[in-house]
Amino acid sequence: MRRKLVAGNWKMNGSTSSIRELLQGILGGSAEVAAVELAVFPPFVYLDAVARQLTGTAVGWGAQNLSEHASGAHTGEVAGPMLKDLGCVYVIVGHSERRTLYGESDQVVARKFAAARKFGLKPILCVGETLEERDQGVTEAVVERQLKAVLDLEGVASFADAVIAYEPVWAIGTGRTATPQQAQDVHAFIRAQLAALDPALASQVRILYGGSVKGANAGELLVMPDIDGGLVGGASLDPKDFLLIAKAGC
Ligand code: PGA
Repeated sequence: MRRKLVAGNWKMNGSTSSIRELLQGILGGSAEVAAVELAVFPPFVYLDAVARQLTGTAVGWGAQNLSEHASGAHTGEVAGPMLKDLGCVYVIVGHSERRTLYGESDQVVARKFAAARKFGLKPILCVGETLEERDQGVTEAVVERQLKAVLDLEGVASFADAVIAYEPVWAIGTGRTATPQQAQDVHAFIRAQLAALDPALASQVRILYGGSVKGANAGELLVMPDIDGGLVGGASLDPKDFLLIAKAGC
């Protein structure tokens, strides 16, 4: 059985006080959704405060990005060992905003995936097509290429400790969600790619859906057989909606 994971990607949002309030809200309702694993992904500068508030609770935390390097002359970057030092369990790699706004190629993303594992963090690898790619009918080819870059560098066994997030770019922050069947089809495709290499491992890997997930649509998405949770942006900033999504996965 794959335990569902609901991950809150806060992106570049929050302040010391808003984060305290948000965490109090989440912790207030987390016992009711204990069947689901919860984790939050604050901006780097708030990781320490989040770690202090979540230590000893059932809610985990991680970072939104990491450097592919371990340390050294990389002004403005944050390394895996630093994230580990702050108690991060997970780190998101290859979010579409990193790929499109900050020019991260499939190869850079693969190296970040490798760095995460090397330093004891579980990568959440984001893959997904743009609207143009979907309209051209190349969704599977795009997702396959993004996955292959990581498989070529790290091998299928590296997914034992990893999570995959399918996030169609056209559904992120747009209020437009993939239909449950559209999402399920791509999740099944991703699982089949891994199964071709290692069927037992493929059946264990969690594949999250991301893209305008909210309380109102989480139920129909999380009930699909290959959807193992959500990577939630906007709705993760509202504790009630975040908990509603988790509830849908229970
Ligand atoms: P959204 O973002 O839920 O606001 O669409 C999801 C994501 O980018 O991870």
